[in-house]
Amino acid sequence: MAETGFLAGDKIDMSEPRSYPRHVKTDAGDIEIRLMSPSDEAAVLAFGKALPTHDLLFLPRNISEPKVLSAWIKEIERGAIRSLLAVKDGKVVGCGTLVRDPHSWSPHVGEIRMVVSSEVRGKGVGKALSQETFALALGAGLEKLSVQMTVDQQAAIALFESLGFKAEALLRDHVRDVEGNTHDIVVLGHNVAQVRAQMEAYGLPDAVRH
Ligand SMILES: CC(C)(COP(=O)(O)OP(=O)(O)OC[C@H]1O[C@@H](n2cnc3c(N)ncnc32)[C@H](O)[C@@H]1OP(=O)(O)O)[C@@H](O)C(=O)NCCC(=O)NCCS
Repeated sequence: MAETGFLAGDKIDMSEPRSYPRHVKTDAGDIEIRLMSPSDEAAVLAFGKALPTHDLLFLPRNISEPKVLSAWIKEIERGAIRSLLAVKDGKVVGCGTLVRDPHSWSPHVGEIRMVVSSEVRGKGVGKALSQETFALALGAGLEKLSVQMTVDQQAAIALFESLGFKAEALLRDHVRDVEGNTHDIVVLGHNVAQVRAQMEAYGLPDAVRH
């Protein structure tokens, strides 16, 4: 079981279907994790604007721009994207998103995108959020997950490796920042179907029902 990482973490009782909001204790204090809804648009925009732009390079669009936020909300309403927010004292301090395209040739694949505000980093918020986003993916019946980040995001790489993700690709000079400098992107993948099979073998089928 240890190689899945996720199960080895032993922080989530996967025998229960996920329900939100959930509350987790972290070194940053009590954090509420809940699904993002259209009414969160302004709060998430404020969160995005406060992030260092370098930390947004792994995203296909700049979430500190209002029009990008509006498009994101539309995708949530359409059901194409599910986002979880980490909220501390009423303020958004993190966001984990599961993106999938059932009409593509990769309907079985989901991409996780995650970012935590600088002031609460290194305190367990990212870990809690990544586990919850992973649980969303399991519940959605996905077979494979991917994440991508610039190669210097050591925390992100360590975090997803601890969940069982493994490096699959390096995309050289793949993104360009506002100063015109290019950065490499690393893509990590996770065979979720294998986790599901293991959970079913260990008698936890309810947790992975579609
Ligand atoms: C990746 C990110 C979300 C992590 O959030 P966080 O709240 O700081 O993460 P946590 O405090 O829960 O730490 C989780 C794990 O990350 C690793 N980690 C955290 N900070 C680290 C650091 N400075 N250096 C190396 N590893 C680190 C550790 O393995 C840690 O687990 P541990 O505490 O059990 O050792 C945050 O760094 C971030 O927003 N980065 C920029 C955006 C990005 O690149 N996202 C990745 C795209 S999916």
